[in-house]
Amino acid sequence: MNNDNTLKQRIDAMRTELKEHNYRYYTLDMPVIPDVEYDQLLRQLETLEAELGEPVPADSPTQSIGAIPSQTFVTREHGEPLLSLANAFEPEEIVAFVRKIREGTGEEKPDFIIEPKIDGLAVNLRYESGQLSIAATRGNGKVGEDVTDNIRTITDIPWHLNCADTKFPEVLEVRGEVYMSKATFTELNMRQDTEGLPAFANPRNAAAGSLRQLDAKVTAKRGLNFFAYGVGLGGRELATSQSALLARLHDFGFAVQDTSIANDEKGLLGRYQWLQERRADMPYEIDGVVYKLDGFALQHRMGAVARSPRWAIAHKFPAEEVITSVNQIIWQVGRTGVITPVAEMQPVAVGGVIVSRATLHNIDELQRKQVYAGARVIVRRAGDVIPEVVRAVDVDEKEKLPSPPKNCPVCSASVFRAEGEVALRCSGGLSCPAQLKERLSHFVSRGAMDIEGMGDKLIAKLVDEALLTDIADLYEFDYTSLHGWPGMGNKKIANLQKALEQSYRRPLARFLHALGIRHVGTATATGLASYFGELDGLMQANVEALVNIPDVGPEVAASICSFFAEPHNRDVIARLLAAGVQPSVPPSGSGNHPLAGKTVVLTGSFKSIQRRAAQEQLRALGAKPTGSVSKSTDLVIAGEKAGSKLTKARELGIEVANEQQLLAWLKA
Ligand code: IVH
Repeated sequence: MNNDNTLKQRIDAMRTELKEHNYRYYTLDMPVIPDVEYDQLLRQLETLEAELGEPVPADSPTQSIGAIPSQTFVTREHGEPLLSLANAFEPEEIVAFVRKIREGTGEEKPDFIIEPKIDGLAVNLRYESGQLSIAATRGNGKVGEDVTDNIRTITDIPWHLNCADTKFPEVLEVRGEVYMSKATFTELNMRQDTEGLPAFANPRNAAAGSLRQLDAKVTAKRGLNFFAYGVGLGGRELATSQSALLARLHDFGFAVQDTSIANDEKGLLGRYQWLQERRADMPYEIDGVVYKLDGFALQHRMGAVARSPRWAIAHKFPAEEVITSVNQIIWQVGRTGVITPVAEMQPVAVGGVIVSRATLHNIDELQRKQVYAGARVIVRRAGDVIPEVVRAVDVDEKEKLPSPPKNCPVCSASVFRAEGEVALRCSGGLSCPAQLKERLSHFVSRGAMDIEGMGDKLIAKLVDEALLTDIADLYEFDYTSLHGWPGMGNKKIANLQKALEQSYRRPLARFLHALGIRHVGTATATGLASYFGELDGLMQANVEALVNIPDVGPEVAASICSFFAEPHNRDVIARLLAAGVQPSVPPSGSGNHPLAGKTVVLTGSFKSIQRRAAQEQLRALGAKPTGSVSKSTDLVIAGEKAGSKLTKARELGIEVANEQQLLAWLKA
């Protein structure tokens, strides 16, 4: 009895909590928890209700869908309720789903249609005599809000059905998802920013906020889209299967998604994997895959439970947004002395990996996102993009925002902010160990001098022990003195020495890139190397000479000049050469191409060369062209209309080149 009472109390509390989340999600468009957390709560409640074994009231969040519609708009009753989908996360749940379908239909291999699960909001469109009469949000599934005026601004939605020579039902309800494409979302947030308005957290919130506007003109400017995926009243007579229905809806003038068919768990899971891999490159956000029994007769045989049909299931991708709390904000010093705030957080699984740190890029962003030690924050990770803090939730303690450091957290030199720059910088130069460590790891990295075995940990230790004080020390240091250091056996030391020797004759382009001159990445370094052919000429060049080189503008030229004018840099270079480093310039056609060994991604469209042809030529030059951008990509070559791969490259700080540079490389 006592146990039952506590169980009841827990159930009541969870119902109240979930109702509040429903209200925040559906009515205010301001969820305070990510979807996964909501789904977990709902599942817990379902389990507890089952455990209690009492009749479940109709208003329990497990029975009713969504929230009570807001009074902002006129409410509309749907002709047929809009159902929701049961969620699954694990492959075993899909295996069980297929088994139940087999048992329920008596079919050994029934056809399933597989559709991407669009991350937007469901609407019901009512057509009377082929004319759009009412468009309503899902609301609680039975009653929604009238958004007809706003829906009419969406060009994917026909105002009248295109069915000149076919019959159509007198009243037809078409269901689908209103969404905002990734590109539109990025643009909208940029506009919000210039107008001093808060950014939308994700495309779904942006779509919901844009649809629920009192002024349809505002909605029109937001560039919403729509995909049709189902029908309500009057729909049954249109087709005998979901795939045929989608074809009819397409004929009527609706946008529909690409789908596929499979007839067993292996086929479903294979397509899930396939879509998950392409998720980051899709022009709109998807949060999973929907499997639907294709045949309507079989669907009918399976029936529905309170919230959702038994003939369909949503297989969700691992969460890309979760909430965690910030332990502390640390200030990290980079290669060029830029001091960046980094949030150290309670470790949390997001998008399939554990995340505990995320950069906040600069103090402006930290202040905009209101992140401080103790804040609860939404962390996001899309595709294989590095995690980011989206924003803090329930911000109420602005005074806790950390103030920018006055002194470098590593070397205590004073911190300054150059005019017109958001970045804070340490004034310590190479006497700052943090800057030195970063500079050394850049110098030895794969795209630069490629010194295998000289990892970040070893560099950090050597700098901390004051054994390395600049890059020339790398070649002057007596590595045999490392005998006896933990992890440094004879073989390791010998390999390290060999790697250093092998780096003596790296191509000039790589050497220039390795020096870490501001604004000189792989592309510029390659241009400089092929123009000058040797180091000396470049070191003597003035700004006038440098701006003659393709892709070198006044800013880059000035940066190169001031680098080589700096006595300390000249001294370091002299010592490198004296130690045996001899940057080489290969005679053309020798096979030692600047892109040899580099992992290169081509994206977007190119005017003067086909992407495939470019890939083949790159391969012939020793480069490794691949399809997707990740941390191990060295270079992204972006043509016109480059999309998410380019964005990802920028986020990961990967060097980006254009078509002109590509052509120059192919000629080199
Ligand atoms: S079918 C009875 N198909 O997901 C079937 N829904 O979690 C009802 N959604 O309310 C929905 N993409 O807002 C269906 N291809 C798709 C979908 C999809 C996104 C949304 C929709 C629905 C929710 C259920």
